[in-house]
Amino acid sequence: MIDADLAVVGAAELLTLGGAAPRLGAALRDLRIVPDGSVAARDGRIVFAGTTAEFRRAVRLLPAARTVDAAGAVVLPGFVDPHTHLPFAGWRDREFVRRLEGATYESIAAEGGGIQSTVAATRAASVDDLVDLARGRLDRMLLHGTTTVEAKSGYGLTQDDEIKQLEALARLAAEHPMRIVPTFLGAHIVPAERRADRDAYVAEVAGPMLRAIAGRGLARACDVFVDPGAFSAAEGETILGAARAAGLALRVHADQRRACGGALLAARLGALSADHLDYVEPDGIEALRRAGTTAVLIPGAAFFLRDPRDAPARALIDAGVPVALATDFNPGTCPTEAMTAILPIACLRLGLLPAEAIAAATINAAHALGLAGETGSLETGKAADLVVVEAPNHRHLAYRFGVNPCRTVVRGGRVVVDEGRLTLPRARG
Ligand code: NIG
Ligand code: FE
Repeated sequence: MIDADLAVVGAAELLTLGGAAPRLGAALRDLRIVPDGSVAARDGRIVFAGTTAEFRRAVRLLPAARTVDAAGAVVLPGFVDPHTHLPFAGWRDREFVRRLEGATYESIAAEGGGIQSTVAATRAASVDDLVDLARGRLDRMLLHGTTTVEAKSGYGLTQDDEIKQLEALARLAAEHPMRIVPTFLGAHIVPAERRADRDAYVAEVAGPMLRAIAGRGLARACDVFVDPGAFSAAEGETILGAARAAGLALRVHADQRRACGGALLAARLGALSADHLDYVEPDGIEALRRAGTTAVLIPGAAFFLRDPRDAPARALIDAGVPVALATDFNPGTCPTEAMTAILPIACLRLGLLPAEAIAAATINAAHALGLAGETGSLETGKAADLVVVEAPNHRHLAYRFGVNPCRTVVRGGRVVVDEGRLTLPRARG
């Protein structure tokens, strides 16, 4: 018999997402569904995932075990959100209204708004402020079924302010149940006060900033925004080359608003992910395939910016590029914490099937973070990170939009959301 201290029993559909990671091509829609399925865990790790009949035969519940009834529900791995800008201060709701009145994202940035305005607010915040703000957002992510999140700096843009953002993430990683994967994004934009000598800023990011951050273990990856309004591919190469030498994984904000060599750069440097890709061209797709770099698609940002162009998701999938989904949670281009908000947008704007969107938001997103051995599927030995969703089948996750279907969320074997309520203090921020 297998001893367990947690059991989730009797799901209408258990989506194990077991098997190969990443899911490529036609395999992206293979969720490995077990009808009438159950999962069991011990000490935070999955010890069983299979049919309820097998569960009853094979699993023995320890005296203090918790049993979650999943009858009539779908059980799936906790969502992995592989691209967010979590630790910021200040919202940009006025910009949202201005854009609705006709201003563009770029024109607002040229006036000193946009990313620069979030930089000003984040510089004015203390580490404690950022921890408090991000804690409420992490709570909201858990409530929407996310159990792992990547989080970038990039609104500090001085050594001290970038470190402040990353320190806030380190404190949250120690206190919050969410698994947090920190990324250094000192190359988000050249801050206003450094524009007279952008080469010096690039050298500082690639030199002292990177050394200080990597030296203190504050980031696992380094990201660069390659864009006409941010950094060139050559500047990106300087920074990411230094990051690789410092032992960090690489990510690129690539071809978001215009094709500008971002995907090619990510592939050339062997980046873990190339993100956005709304304007990626066929040579970029082919380069990503050859490099095995994951395309992290962010349909919420194109949707929120009302950009008519979407990433060529079908071409990426058909080419055999690993495809993942993320929120890009940030105050300017996608102010939602909820992966459940992204699934319908991915289907409606990118043409993904519900099953493809679910695999892209779980096992392939885990792969994009280098964590596919730890989370993203319900398999023996992995962390017990899972969601019980109020739905008769998995299609409802993409079909029913604007409502939160997550009933129970388990992170590392601990029930962190119970009947739709946090088992922690209330969300705020
Ligand atoms: O991923 N593209 C660059 N960075 C963010 C936007 C950040 C902002 O507008 O504050 C993005 O969309
Ligand atoms: Fe982003």
